[in-house]
Amino acid sequence: MTWNRRHLLDIQSLSADELTAVLDTAETFKGVGQREIKKVPALRGRTVINLFIEPSTRTRISFELAAKRLSADVINFSTEASSFRKGETLKDTAKNLEALNADLLIIRHRSAGAPHFLSRVLDASVVNAGDGAHEHPTQALLDIFTMREKLGTLKDVQVTILGDILFSRVARSLIWALTKMGASVTLCGPPTLVPKRFEALGCRVTYDLEDALANADIVNLLRIQHERQRRTMFPSLTEYSKLFGVSIDRLNHMKPSAIIMHPGPMNRGVEIDTEVAESERSVILDQVTNGLAVRMAVLYLINGGTVPEAHSAHSTKSE
Ligand code: CP
Repeated sequence: MTWNRRHLLDIQSLSADELTAVLDTAETFKGVGQREIKKVPALRGRTVINLFIEPSTRTRISFELAAKRLSADVINFSTEASSFRKGETLKDTAKNLEALNADLLIIRHRSAGAPHFLSRVLDASVVNAGDGAHEHPTQALLDIFTMREKLGTLKDVQVTILGDILFSRVARSLIWALTKMGASVTLCGPPTLVPKRFEALGCRVTYDLEDALANADIVNLLRIQHERQRRTMFPSLTEYSKLFGVSIDRLNHMKPSAIIMHPGPMNRGVEIDTEVAESERSVILDQVTNGLAVRMAVLYLINGGTVPEAHSAHSTKSE
């Protein structure tokens, strides 16, 4: 297939074929990361600006590294040292960056819809690196890339997403991605953070942790998004950990082949115990490594790159 999108704004509007195209492209870029010279000329002469108005470690650094490995010129916009602090608007900031010949803007913003807004007012390409509690498309892409890498397929894979679903952009993007790719998704957590209305997205909702873990091939843990909650959604972190935290004992009751994922940053001792995070069944750092290849693929495709021949073992048609 050909990739015809100038922006990556969400997962909701992508087809299963488009998701597969990103995964197959990322697989070729993962190989680049294993070479002695980890650089290709695909974005030579292009200017990429990382416009992160919210904090980030993994996403910002891996987008920067991805753009550098594709030979782009990369600028990291620092909110603290910018005219944002003098009240300049997002639109004016972005227009000024475009006036400096930015070809591609990667934006993280606390407001849902900020990347979509920029895509309407700019000629440059826009990539959503997380907008409020709406979507985090490249996190979902690196998550499903890691799942496909570990299990060989996404079709009929049982995935449990556990924790703060309500405020999580990661959960929304991942639900869209997994259901499009034919996986079965179970959501679990306190009822205040996992509303039944998420069933409308094609998921199963349960408040029984044992039930949620019993048949899972993959358990994806989410942290409590304190920064997005306007009131307390459960009595205490201790109670949350007791009822919904994954301890080594709970891990030992899961299927022996089940793997543990977490998008980071982790709250050790709350949603995940250190022994679980650092166990052989945790693929949390593989997710980070794969994020680089996935973000290279996204930047490459948006810049007009071609999708490689479908990987026969993984193509949507073979599933
Ligand atoms: N998973 C994730 O988005 O992490 P950062 O906030 O560190 O980018």
